[in-house]
Amino acid sequence: MRLPPLLLTRTLFTRPTIHLRRMSSAAAAFGLKEASLIKTQAFIAGQWVDAKSRETISVINPATLEELGTVPEMGLAETKEAIDAAEKALPEWSKTTAKQRHDVLMKFFKLMQEHNDDLSRLITLENGKTLTEAQGENAYSASFLEWFAEEAVRTYGTHIPSPFPNVRNVTIKQPVGVVSILTPWNFPSAMITRKLGAALAAGCTTVIKPPPETPFSCLALVELARRAGVPDGVINVVTTLKNVGEVGKEMCESKIVKKVSFTGSTAVAKLLATMSASTLKKVSIEAGGNAPFIVFDDANIDEAVAGAIICKFRTSGQTCVCANRIYVHSSVYAEFASRLAEKVAAFKIGNGMDKETTHGPLIHTRAVKKVQEHVDDAVALGAQVLLGGKSVPDSSFFNPTILTDVPAEARINREETFGPLAALTKFETEEEVIKLANDTEVGLAGYFFSRDIGRVWRVAEKLEVGMVGCNTGLISQAVIPFGGIKESGLGKEGGPGIEEYLNTKLIVFGGL
Ligand code: SIN
Repeated sequence: MRLPPLLLTRTLFTRPTIHLRRMSSAAAAFGLKEASLIKTQAFIAGQWVDAKSRETISVINPATLEELGTVPEMGLAETKEAIDAAEKALPEWSKTTAKQRHDVLMKFFKLMQEHNDDLSRLITLENGKTLTEAQGENAYSASFLEWFAEEAVRTYGTHIPSPFPNVRNVTIKQPVGVVSILTPWNFPSAMITRKLGAALAAGCTTVIKPPPETPFSCLALVELARRAGVPDGVINVVTTLKNVGEVGKEMCESKIVKKVSFTGSTAVAKLLATMSASTLKKVSIEAGGNAPFIVFDDANIDEAVAGAIICKFRTSGQTCVCANRIYVHSSVYAEFASRLAEKVAAFKIGNGMDKETTHGPLIHTRAVKKVQEHVDDAVALGAQVLLGGKSVPDSSFFNPTILTDVPAEARINREETFGPLAALTKFETEEEVIKLANDTEVGLAGYFFSRDIGRVWRVAEKLEVGMVGCNTGLISQAVIPFGGIKESGLGKEGGPGIEEYLNTKLIVFGGL
C-alpha cells in the first residue's frame, strides 16, 4: 500500500511563498554557542549521512519564514539501512546491564542540562514557541531521561506461587527489540525523549523519524546521546518529507521492527496501526485530543482563568492536551469571560526569541488557515468574537482569540483546533456538561474547576478521557502515565511507559 506522503505527517509542511530569504550559512541562522550541535545530516549506524538522492528538505523558522537550514530527504533504501543498523546493534545493547544503561541515560540527561541554552534556542528557532517555553520543554524533555534511567534498574520480574508443590513460576522482563519512533513538531525535543528514553532504558535499539518541520532538535539530541556513550546503531535517524509514505510504511511493516511508537493525529495513527498489524507489532499511540475544560459555579474563578490560560494558550494552543472546548456555568460565565479576555488581551505575540513575546507563531500557514476556518465556522453559526478572530496577514501568526456562545454544532466541538482559540459555551447542569464533554470520539485529557469534593470525584470519574486535570490546567510531567482512551491512543508513555518496550517472559521451573 502506498500512502499519500502528506498524510503521514501530523501537519503539513507549507513552503512559504513570501519573506523567504536563504541564509548564507546555517550556523549564522542558529547562533548557537556550540555550532557542533547543528546537524544537517541524518544518522545511520553511527554515521552522519546525506540522502542517496542528495535531495534535501528546507526547514523554516515559523516566526520569520526564513530558511534555517536543510536536512536530507531520505527514502526507503535509507530506512532499510537504518533498520538493519538497529538490528545489528541490538544483541550488544540488549545485553548491557540495567546499571550501564542507567549511567548512559544519566550522562545524556546531564548533557541536556549543560546545553540547555543551545537546545532551547533550537526549539524556538524551528518550532516558534517562546524561549521561556523552549527552556521549559528542554527541562521537561531531559526529565524523561532521568526518569527512565531510574526505571531501567527497576524492571523487576515476579514470582507467582504455583498451585503445584514442585513447580515455581517466575517472570522476567526483556527488551522488545528494534523500535520505530515517529514524533510530532509541537514538542521537538520532549516527544523524542519520552519514547527514546524508555526504549534505551529497556535495552531496545531505535529508528527515529522526526517531523520535517523540527528535525534539528532531534539531531542535536542524537549527538548528545552519542557523546553520552550510546553505541553506534542503537539510535538511527531518518529525515523525510515527501517520501514519508514509503518511510513510514517500512518503519511499520518491516519484520525486523518489533514495536512502533507514534505521537500525532488520530488519522495518521490509524494508518500506522493498520500497517503495524501486518506483523502484529506492539504499538504505542498518543493521538489527537479535543479536551473539555469545565468551570463549575463553585470554582475559584481566578484559578480557573489561570488554568485556562496555561491549558489553552501554552505553545500557542498547539498541544494535544490543550483545552479545545471551554464550558462555563451560566452563573459565572460573564465574569469568567471578561477576566479571561483581560488576561489574553495582554498577550504579546511575536518572535519567540524576543524577551517581550509571550506567545509565538503557529507552525506554518496551513495551521493558521485551520484556526481561521474554525473561527469563521463558529461565527457563521452564531458565536460572538470577544477578542481577536483574525490571523496576521502574510505570516504564521494568529491573534489570540476568544469566542463566546459557541454552538454545539461548530467544528471546534468536533475537531482539534491546535491554535490560540478559546471557544466558550454556557451550561446549566452537571449532567448536561458531562454529556457535552463526552460527546466526542477522542478522549485524551479533560479539565474541570470545582471546590465541591463530591462533584470533584463524580466528574473526574465520569469524564471519558485518559487524564483529568482537576483545578489545574497543566498535567504534563515525566512521572505520569500519559495517554488517552477512545480514539486518542493506545498504551501509556512517561511514568510506567518502560513496560511498553518490554516483553514479560514466563519461566516455569518443574521437577523440583
Ligand atoms: C502533546 O501535545 O503531544 C504532548 C503534550 C505534553 O506532553 O504536554
